[in-house]
Amino acid sequence: MTTLAVQPPRYPVEQVPESSLHAVFRAAQRWASLHHREPIALHIGEPAYDIPPAAVEAMSRALRAGSCSYTSAEGMPQLREALVAKLAGQRIDADVDRVFVTPGSCQGLMAIGAAVHTPGAGWLIPQVHWPIYRQQGMLNGYRVTGYPLGPGYRLDVAAIARAATPDTRVIVVNSPANPTGAIADAETLRDLLALARERDWLVVADEAYEDFAYDAPHVSLAAFEADVDPYDRRVFSAFTFSKSYAMTGCRVGYVVAPNDMYAGLLRKVQEGAIIAPPTPSQIGALAALDAQDAVRANVAMVRRSRDEVMPGLVAAGIIDAPPAGGWYALLNIASSGLAAEAFAARLLAERGVAVAPAAAFALPGDPSTEHVIRISMAGDRAQLAAGVDAIVQACHEWGADRTPERLS
Ligand SMILES: Cc1ncc(COP(=O)(O)O)c(C=O)c1O
Repeated sequence: MTTLAVQPPRYPVEQVPESSLHAVFRAAQRWASLHHREPIALHIGEPAYDIPPAAVEAMSRALRAGSCSYTSAEGMPQLREALVAKLAGQRIDADVDRVFVTPGSCQGLMAIGAAVHTPGAGWLIPQVHWPIYRQQGMLNGYRVTGYPLGPGYRLDVAAIARAATPDTRVIVVNSPANPTGAIADAETLRDLLALARERDWLVVADEAYEDFAYDAPHVSLAAFEADVDPYDRRVFSAFTFSKSYAMTGCRVGYVVAPNDMYAGLLRKVQEGAIIAPPTPSQIGALAALDAQDAVRANVAMVRRSRDEVMPGLVAAGIIDAPPAGGWYALLNIASSGLAAEAFAARLLAERGVAVAPAAAFALPGDPSTEHVIRISMAGDRAQLAAGVDAIVQACHEWGADRTPERLS
């Protein structure tokens, strides 16, 4: 009798893994319905701050006025013009014809992957990564390979050069990074771009957390191509309104193509994939761009949360150093004597704290995340502090409890 396990998949998508983060969500929901209250949610990336009031106002006004028709596939010209000005401030040489407003940067990243795919091409992603990169690479038909990260999860260009395969066509770079919080410095990015040039790779720079840089400045990879002839450029950049402006559910982001040729490819993907990005969200995004005070306050809020909880975690040996940027931190809970999945399950069951085992952010079989969990620092500060206390205590108590058998 043939079993399902040995049958070749009928559709390539059957091979694409589901995001294992969903299992964490489901476990947290089960806990909530059992206990009639929400667990402390350190597993999700939803911010404690709100969308800027000016964005809400602009969207409400637009909807009341009936401004809800399609825009072009690239998005509203006024918004794209404002984005070109914003990008110029970070030394990215954009142009309205090369900026695409997208339903979240997630869709923008997917569209880039689809636009530049060639048969047999490889998609190179960080060994520890936002899991959507892997799904998108596979969904777009690439061969997905991971590149190892250096100490502190920082980019290591020599390791990238070794990890690449002859078919590598696209490398994905994420700084500040989810889930690691690492920020790539200018010299490393310059070296990476030189390698990409030498090997003729395209580069996708995911800058979702561009504003959340605490200990090091954020540098945009595309800034290094500002003086390069557009037809020699190779960096695509992806940005979002989700993080800096708390507009996660508005689904609005944008991507920048390096030149008109790639913009032409992207346009076709967007025509076929979305028709147009959502109009009310674009109107909200345009208003949000003027709310830079709100962005500064939002960044300060996450930074303060980070600064409040990190000393205790460093002192307990659960993290080596605070993450330099982003919303997340990876914690090593090996001192509890448990693997990350068991730790997360027990922490939820016994202490009502939901965290994500870091295997969800690694390629299959990567042993480096066996004792690592991810927490979000963007949520409510009191909940974060309570959750972190529970993690430190659990490591201490469960570690002290362990018998030689449990350790084996
Ligand atoms: C690294 C990274 N890139 C991109 C995104 C996508 O954000 P959105 O699609 O909401 O713009 C996320 C969201 O969690 C992220 O963590």
